[in-house]
Amino acid sequence: MENIADIIKKIELILDEASRLLNGSKDLNELDFQFKIFAGKKGKITEILHNIHSFAPEEKKIIGSKSNEIKNKIEEIYLSKKNKLISIERSRPLSENKIDLTIPGASFESPHKHPITAVLEETVNFFMSMGFEVVEGPEIETTYYNFDALNIPANHPARDIWDTFYLLNGLVPRTHTSSVQVRTMEKKSPPFRVIAPGRCYRYESVDATHLFMFNQIEGLFVDKTVRLSDLKGILEATVKYILGAKKTRFRPAFYPFVEPGLDLDIECVFCGGKGCNICKSTGWIEVIPCGMVHPQVFKYVGIDPEKYRGFAFGMGFDRVVMLKYNINDLRLLYQGNIDILSQF
Ligand code: PHE
Repeated sequence: MENIADIIKKIELILDEASRLLNGSKDLNELDFQFKIFAGKKGKITEILHNIHSFAPEEKKIIGSKSNEIKNKIEEIYLSKKNKLISIERSRPLSENKIDLTIPGASFESPHKHPITAVLEETVNFFMSMGFEVVEGPEIETTYYNFDALNIPANHPARDIWDTFYLLNGLVPRTHTSSVQVRTMEKKSPPFRVIAPGRCYRYESVDATHLFMFNQIEGLFVDKTVRLSDLKGILEATVKYILGAKKTRFRPAFYPFVEPGLDLDIECVFCGGKGCNICKSTGWIEVIPCGMVHPQVFKYVGIDPEKYRGFAFGMGFDRVVMLKYNINDLRLLYQGNIDILSQF
């Protein structure tokens, strides 16, 4: 068994070895590495202190103070060597500094527009080129603008079509941009052509093609001689321009604020009309609900339905972006994932 003299001898030997290796270190990395080997938490001195259980308390004390003394000496050697190495490093001529000027610089991605913003701007510009003006309305609406004035009275079953969030104060996050039709007609006197892009909210369970929030572009054209053929011409031109749609069709549909009401479908861009799971085997995809403004709506806003006519549409805009870029899950557009968004 070791006696106390052996242990003290061992500790002194550690100092000798540490002094030799620290002073021989060529650079700061090596110096730090050596320092840890001797005086670090798992270093040689700590190791000795772990193995002195069998000594008497007074002996442990002696060993403890000896090892502290040695540890301090090692630290002194470490610090003075560190200073020497630093000043050597600093005094080195610039020419010895190795800078490789041929290494390519750190690149950063150049910013670009979100696909929804990019297509929205393109669409807005297209309508502006046809004389449409951009108008806005609030996202939190009264039920009057969201429903009543659009010929959807309270307690009428038609209200169920819109899965509405009702706020405690009686207002609603608008379920469609059609509320902006009413606000616009209250302010402007015809003739006018407007579009109203914006967010809408519905109580939907979220899946690949539904979110509780989505973008719509409302359109409204009121003049003395606006006809269904104007609606058809303008909307067909729109889907051709934005989506490159080749074939389109109009189907009758019910929306209480238009008469007649229609849905504009385009031939499925994914299967070319043959039928696939995206168009649910029909070969067609619905893109723009639309119709001729209902006389009742004109009456609500004080426009004479005998003198004026109009058409309206409400294009689900996220759907357009999905079709344009062949995106099969709407949620991808809202997750802020750079890897996905930078592809467009
Ligand atoms: N507001 C309707 C909807 O979101 C769409 C629509 C707008 C239909 C304008 C006809 C005319 O369901």
